[in-house]
Amino acid sequence: MKKIPILIDCDPGHDDAIALVLAAACPELDIRCVTTTAGNQTLEKTTYNARRILTLIGRTDIPVAKGRETPLLAKPMQAASVHGDSGLDGPPLPEPGQELSPLSSVDLMAKTIRECGEPVTLVATGPLTNVAALFLAHPELKERITRISLMGGGLAHGNWTPAAEFNILVDPEAAEIVYTSGVPIVMAGLDVTEKALLYAEDFARIRAVGNPVAQTVADWLDFFYVFHKNKGYRGATVHDPVAVTALVRPEMLTMQPVHVDIETCGDYCRGATIADWFHTAGRPENVTAITGIDREAFVDLIVEAVGRYGKEARA
Ligand code: BDR
Ligand code: CA
Repeated sequence: MKKIPILIDCDPGHDDAIALVLAAACPELDIRCVTTTAGNQTLEKTTYNARRILTLIGRTDIPVAKGRETPLLAKPMQAASVHGDSGLDGPPLPEPGQELSPLSSVDLMAKTIRECGEPVTLVATGPLTNVAALFLAHPELKERITRISLMGGGLAHGNWTPAAEFNILVDPEAAEIVYTSGVPIVMAGLDVTEKALLYAEDFARIRAVGNPVAQTVADWLDFFYVFHKNKGYRGATVHDPVAVTALVRPEMLTMQPVHVDIETCGDYCRGATIADWFHTAGRPENVTAITGIDREAFVDLIVEAVGRYGKEARA
């Protein structure tokens, strides 16, 4: 099978962790590198978590590089209320089994893109700081990127403020650079990810798969669900894996092209993603927005993915 070469930029984070588990288990995907961004926790913590996750799933062969310590202009912020003090609270994880790349995230992404014999796909599941920094440093590489499949924004509402979703709010200036870059964007915003719910009975199905990766994913979901339960959700909103699902099971999703702008100013709306559904400004669509998901099929995909790991972890 011809695989899609992907680069993953993330801020793990429970749902980022599940996105990595899913991507590494999909035979359609070839993860060429992982880069980390500050977001759910500090850069130090998200980088440590990414390395521990890749060690858990037996993929210490994938190079990992640290991104920028802070957003391009904004003050850093974290989501400890959702992901805990470590950024990935819950089950114990192995210590990193790989060295961190000596390269910066921008240099590792640029090298990976240049050395890949074909155009690559970026998967971004955190604030867009590193992707924007890549585009600023190497605009010539944009034409070697087929698309960016990202989790970020919400066309109907936000989750960190009434208007803004966390990933975009952390670094709106970076998001603006990415959304105006001309590189096609597949956007898994809250419009779909709040429908990508996993219920307690789904956690049980995952746990019943019985291997160490499945058990860890179920434990992550237990922890992640506490925040959502307190907010009145019936399940955990498993945001980031939807950006991976868009690459391997687009038929499970409802998508619609639209022009989206990023609000970088304003007292109330900084970080909002504004969709021009009615073509009021007549600008071309820059985003394929995902608005719906076959929830049961999504759960099946995650159960199938964890089932690909053996006792020795690697899928
Ligand atoms: C996004 O914010 C983070 O907490 C999650 O990992 C996800 O990427 C959801 O708003
Ligand atoms: Ca994330």
